[in-house]
Order: sequence, then C-alpha cells, then structure tokens
Amino acid sequence: MDGNGRWATGRGLPRIAGHRAGAQAVRRTIEAAIESGVGWLTLYAFSSENWRRPQAEVLDLTGLLRHYIRQELAELKAQGVRLRILGDRNRFDADICADLDRAEAETRANSRLNLNVALSYGARSEIVAAARLAAEAVRDGTLNLADLDETAFARLLSTAGMPDPDLVIRTSGEHRLSNFLLWQSAYAELVFTDVLWPDFGPAEFAAALAEFSRRERRFGARPG
Ligand code: FPP
Repeated sequence: MDGNGRWATGRGLPRIAGHRAGAQAVRRTIEAAIESGVGWLTLYAFSSENWRRPQAEVLDLTGLLRHYIRQELAELKAQGVRLRILGDRNRFDADICADLDRAEAETRANSRLNLNVALSYGARSEIVAAARLAAEAVRDGTLNLADLDETAFARLLSTAGMPDPDLVIRTSGEHRLSNFLLWQSAYAELVFTDVLWPDFGPAEFAAALAEFSRRERRFGARPG
C-alpha cells in the first residue's frame, strides 16, 4: 500500500492525511475483495523498516492503527472477515497488542474473507525466525534433519496453513517487493500500478484481477 505520502504532499497536505486516505482505501479494497469472491487478502500496512521513519510519523501511523482496529472491528465481524496479524505485534504499545489479540479472537470463526494485516513485518526476519525454530527442533530431537523440506519449513512461518499468494499488487509505480512475503510469493504474479494507494479502489482491484487472469501460470514447468 504505497504512495500515501506522495498523495498527501501532492495536495499540500501533511503525510498523515495520506495515511488517513489510505485507511479509506483499505476499507474499499476489503469490500472489493469480498465482492470478487477473493478468499485471502494480505495488506502490508507497516514494515519492520517503517520504525525508522520520523517519530512523529510513527506516532501518527500507530495512532491510526489503534483508531482503525477499534472503529472497524464491528464492521469486519458483520462482513464475515477473519483478521490475522503477521509480524512482530509486540513492538506496538500494549493497548494496541491487546486490541489486535481481541480482534483476532473475535473474528476467529469467520471465513468469508481471510484478512491478514502485516504489521512490523519483514520477510527476511520471518525466514530467520523459522530457521531458528527448525534448528532448535533438530537440536531437541523433535525434527529429523532429513524431514526438513519445503513443506516442513513453511509450517514454521507466520503464514503456516495459509495458501501462498497468487497475486501481489504494488501501488505507486514502485517495482519492488520490499521484504514482503518473500518465501510465500515465489510463484506469485506481480502487478504494478502507478495509482497511489489512497486512490486505489474497486476499479483498480478489478483491473489487477483481470491482468492476473491473462497471465499464464506455469510454476516453473514447461507449457503443456
Ligand atoms: C506507504 O506509503 C504506506 C504506509 C507506510 C502506511 C500504510 C498504512 C495505511 C494504508 C493506513 C492504515 C492501514 C491500516 C490497516 C490501519 P508511504 O508513506 O511510503 O508513501 P510515499 O512512498 O508516497 O512516501
């Protein structure tokens, strides 16, 4: 969800105005995903690198997150959304962690849309954490080294039990993955759009799905 800052500065507004508009785009995109029958949606809302932004912007973003979770939980429940958080939630204030835990618990039985929000998330540290767990399990004798294959390793990631993404959409003209779901996106189709995240909505979502449906997916195999 990139381009909030540019959207705001382009209008002579403070960056937080772009993040607020970005939160509206989050709402629209969740609705568009449900309407399109998409079962899984993962939003990259805050990277582990985002902590390095100026303190005032980090405060603005965490404040917006607190506000969003409190305000949207009832709506997420009404829409049948199951919310899960990927990333190191414990770096956020204790009240935000508690709200995130509650939102996950209260939406656990929902299945219309599985919504993952990546917060304080970085794919490399996720992979290192999984490697540590694997090493510990081998050391403790609960895992045979010979049994450590891709399936066993994927079970140690924060996305254990979830399908790999079919499609990754990045907004605002940047052509990078920026440490997002690096393991899981191995065969994902990548769609880049120049639209800034606050301008993203059902039309852009539908265009990305249409682009996806035109791609021929071979997963490394030869065409049949
Ligand atoms: C990237 O734009 C966006 C972020 C770092 C924050 C994303 C947050 C939201 C969309 C709103 C909150 C979402 C939830 C789920 C509560 P940027 O600031 O890097 O933009 P720039 O590249 O134009 O500077």
